[in-house]
Amino acid sequence: MSEPTTPLAQRRGHEFTAILGLGDHRPERIVPNSEIVEAIDSSDEWIKERSGIASRRLAGPDETIVTMSASASRAALENAGITPEQVDLVIVASVTHPWQTPAAAPMVADALGATNAAAYDLGAACAGFCYALAVADDAIRAGSATHALVIGAEKFSDFRDPHDRTTAFIFGDGAAAAVVGPADSPGISASVLGADGTGAMQIAQTRDWTRVRHDWEQIAASGEVPADLSPFPSIGMEGPSVFRWAVTKMAPVVQQILDTAGVTADDLAVFVPHQANVRIIDAMVKRAHLPEHVVVARDDIVDMANTSAASVPLALTRLVREGRAKSGDLALLMGFGAGLAWAGQVVRVP
Ligand code: UT7
Repeated sequence: MSEPTTPLAQRRGHEFTAILGLGDHRPERIVPNSEIVEAIDSSDEWIKERSGIASRRLAGPDETIVTMSASASRAALENAGITPEQVDLVIVASVTHPWQTPAAAPMVADALGATNAAAYDLGAACAGFCYALAVADDAIRAGSATHALVIGAEKFSDFRDPHDRTTAFIFGDGAAAAVVGPADSPGISASVLGADGTGAMQIAQTRDWTRVRHDWEQIAASGEVPADLSPFPSIGMEGPSVFRWAVTKMAPVVQQILDTAGVTADDLAVFVPHQANVRIIDAMVKRAHLPEHVVVARDDIVDMANTSAASVPLALTRLVREGRAKSGDLALLMGFGAGLAWAGQVVRVP
C-alpha cells in the first residue's frame, strides 16, 4: 500500500474504564410455580429441584423492552450521578425486543433524553450484557464514547409457550443497566468473548419469520388452521444438551476469565454467573474451586428465574443493594447461552 498523503483523523480514548452506577427494573407481578404447573403437567417441587426456580416476575402490557430499559437506566444514571445528556452510547442487549426494526436502543435513548447518544441493540442472548460491557469498555478506551449505558432487558412472556415443559417455567422478565465511563484505574478487565455456532439450534426461536409468513400463506390458501400451530414463534430449548454444555464447557471459562483479567480466585469477592439453573451455578463454583469467602449470586434464579441478557446485571445490582457486594470489590461476571455464545470479565463494584 502506498503511503497516505492525507492523514485521517483518529480519536484517543481513556486509559481505564469502570462501572459507575447500576440500576434495575423488576416487574411487579410475581408468578409462583403453582400458577404455571398445570399447563406443563409439572409441580412446584420438580421445578425447584431441577432448576432452583420458585417464582418469576412477568411484565404487564405497559412494560416493554423499551420502558423497562429506560426505567433501569434512570436508576443507573442517578446511581452514577451522570445526566442523560452526558451519555453518548446506549447498547441494549436483548433477544425479546418484538420489533425486528427499529432497534430498542434509539427508543430508550429518546425516552431518557439521551440526545447525544449513538444507540444500537446487541444480540448475544444470555451473554448479551457481558458482550455489551466489553463493547462499551472498548469504545471508551478507543475514544468513540465517554459515558455508555449498557442494558440487559428481556420480556420472555411475549415469546413464551405456556405448554412447553422445558421453557414455560424457566424464563422471566426484567431489565438492568450499568453506566460505564472513564476511571483513574482499571475497573473493567479485558474480556473473554466466545461463540460456537455448531450448537446454534439448541436454544432457538421455534420458527423464523419467513416460515411464519409461509404458514399463514398456507392457511390463507387452504382456509384451515393446523391445531398444533401457534400464531407466534416461541423460544425453545434442548434443555439437557444445554445443561451438559454449560457444566462441561462453560465451567472452565471461569478460569479463563480470571487468567485474562490477571487475577486469581482468591482476589475475587463476588461471582455473578448467568442465572440459568441453580445446579449449573453450583457445578461452576465447584469446578472453579472458588474459595469460601466469594459471594455467589444465586438468589435471582430463585425469584426472577432465567432473564437471559438481564440476569447478570440484575443479580449484580441486587448484591450491591443488599450490601453483599461492596464498592471496590472484584466481581467476576459471566454470561452464556443461545448462539451458543459466552462472555465474561472481572469488574470493580461501583
Ligand atoms: O439461559 C440459557 C442457558 N440455559 C440453560 O443453561 C438451561 C439448561 N437446562 C436446564 O436447566 C435443564 O435442562 C432444565 C431445568 C430445563 C430441565 O431439567 P433436566 O434435569 O435437564 O430435565 P430433563 O429434560 O432431562 O427431564 C428429566 C425428566 C424427564 O422424565 P423421565 O424421562 O426421566 O421420566 C422429563 O420427561 O423430567 C421430565 N420433565 C418434567 N417433569 C416435570 C421434563 N420437563 C418437566 C417438567 N415438569 N417441566
